[in-house]
Amino acid sequence: MNAAGRPEGLEELPLRTGEDVVRLRKAVRDRAVALGFSLVDQTKIVTAASEVARNTVDYGGGGTMRIEVLRDGIRRGVRLTFSDEGPGIADIGKAMTDGYTTGGGLGLGLSGAKRLSNEFAITSSPGKGTVVTLARWK
Ligand SMILES: Nc1ncnc2c1ncn2[C@@H]1O[C@H](COP(=O)(O)OP(=O)(O)OP(=O)(O)O)[C@@H](O)[C@H]1O
Ligand SMILES: [Mg+2]
Repeated sequence: MNAAGRPEGLEELPLRTGEDVVRLRKAVRDRAVALGFSLVDQTKIVTAASEVARNTVDYGGGGTMRIEVLRDGIRRGVRLTFSDEGPGIADIGKAMTDGYTTGGGLGLGLSGAKRLSNEFAITSSPGKGTVVTLARWK
């Protein structure tokens, strides 16, 4: 157990402000370094995390991100779960399309985060919120 009374390797961060996104980037980077990720893989997971985190803040009305350390035999990885209770996404296929935005962005955040991850899942119910899960293995 760690200081917060959670199993070792599990951490949950609040995600409400731009400063929270900065803290989250650092937490993900630290975790990737501790797991021995290459600089390229560190940058991929931090960039993916940052995009999804900004969406959680900008569109989801804030939420949380959970970091989990993964082990599969000798393989190690990290899984990030972003949850919010915002308006949700009516058409996930559209939201995942390059260039689709409802907020005046580039519409590349979700599709980019998927390309930078080894595993990516998104579930959303309109009116209830959105959960995005991504994982990257070393
Ligand atoms: N957590 C969320 N809650 C509600 N809608 C979301 C959420 N995340 C994404 N969306 C919707 O999906 C669209 C696409 O997201 P994506 O990150 O790909 O692009 P963007 O944020 O609009 O622009 P960019 O990330 O390139 O600056 C958003 O414009 C928004 O409509
Ligand atoms: Mg975005």
